Amino acid sequence: MKRFQWGMIGGGKGAFIGGAHRVAAKIANSFELVGGVFDIDFERAKEFAAQENIDLKRVYPDIDSFIRGELSLPATDRITVVTIVTPNYLHYDHAKKLLRNGFHVICEKPVTLTSAEALELKELVEKNKLVFALTHTYTGYPMVREMKRRIEAGDIGSLQRVDAQYLQGWINPIIHGGEAKLAVWRLDPKVAGISSCMGDIGVHAFNMIEYATGLKVKKVLAVLNALKPENPLDLDGNVLLGFDENLTGVIRSSQIATGEENNLQISVYGTTGGFHWEQENPNVLKMFHEGAPYEIITPGYGYLTPFAQESHVLPPGHPEGIYEAFGNLYKGAAKAIRGEETVPGQFPGIDDGVRGMLFIESAVKSNTEGNVWVSL
Ligand SMILES: NC(=O)c1ccc[n+]([C@@H]2O[C@H](COP(=O)([O-])OP(=O)(O)OC[C@H]3O[C@@H](n4cnc5c(N)ncnc54)[C@H](O)[C@@H]3O)[C@@H](O)[C@H]2O)c1
Repeated sequence: MKRFQWGMIGGGKGAFIGGAHRVAAKIANSFELVGGVFDIDFERAKEFAAQENIDLKRVYPDIDSFIRGELSLPATDRITVVTIVTPNYLHYDHAKKLLRNGFHVICEKPVTLTSAEALELKELVEKNKLVFALTHTYTGYPMVREMKRRIEAGDIGSLQRVDAQYLQGWINPIIHGGEAKLAVWRLDPKVAGISSCMGDIGVHAFNMIEYATGLKVKKVLAVLNALKPENPLDLDGNVLLGFDENLTGVIRSSQIATGEENNLQISVYGTTGGFHWEQENPNVLKMFHEGAPYEIITPGYGYLTPFAQESHVLPPGHPEGIYEAFGNLYKGAAKAIRGEETVPGQFPGIDDGVRGMLFIESAVKSNTEGNVWVSL
């Protein structure tokens, strides 16, 4: 199958998540990295490109020259899809320019700094009929997809409680260590946005809840914690979630949960059963039953839903992980760009981006206004 000419903004030498995108694209087998604005430092971008065997003519110093350069090429030779893996404050400007000029976009979360910006991107995606994939990575795991399909099928009855946590501890030594914190862009509101903890990881838990349950959170009540008065952004928080009457939930999230690594978990309980899934043990899905022992569901079997089966390539017992989950989003985006039929939940899109920004804004507002309920 023909591969898309693919570009990246950010993600060069030393970047955290750019490399995972390249592995994901490789797994999806539909993308050929041929150019981009790989780094804020042009010289380092060229070094990176040379290492990757990328033609230096397709390495650009900024987004405007990228667009000019690519549009000057015949349509068949041009990059058609671009991944944005820069720090948060750049997503909106880069995505807007790319969408206005006809490029499909794969973008990191949080999609923008505000919901108004996210809504503008949504309008552009729809107007220009382009694909926009948002990399809420964890939705690509086969056991998350199995849980989603089984909840949709009514396998645990009507939902009555949702509980998600996302606990990390990596900011703890930085926040207690003084100067080093200046180098962490996630703690700078101009770069990260109005929230650190909820904006960086709480939003993944929020997306996981809406993805797995298919429900929309209607209101939130947040208690956020910046730990020290001089910190402008939250590092920890608990957010109550209101859905319809008789269904509530909670997101507990922290970047100062000392010693925690990447502890995202979700539990969903219905009238007849429940599910529990953990990111650090992603190939195990626990299914609870009223009055009977719980089941352990694992990937690779023919009895799973087709969506979970297509999301795990190897036979049972061959663990697949974060890269394959990421790859599943790239596979979905590739299908959509080719105009092939995609199934619901194949990859998060701009609507998830808008919802995520509404969550972040509402949680911060709730906290600022004295821990009151705020509608999304
Ligand atoms: N989906 C996930 O699970 C996940 C995980 C980690 C990070 N992220 C998101 O990915 C994004 C990047 O995070 P990171 O941790 O990789 O950051 P990083 O600081 O490690 O890397 C950022 C990259 O962007 C480049 N960059 C900065 N300004 C630029 C500019 N003006 N033009 C071009 N490139 C520029 C930097 O040189 C660097 O290569 C963030 O939005 C973050 O929230 C998502």
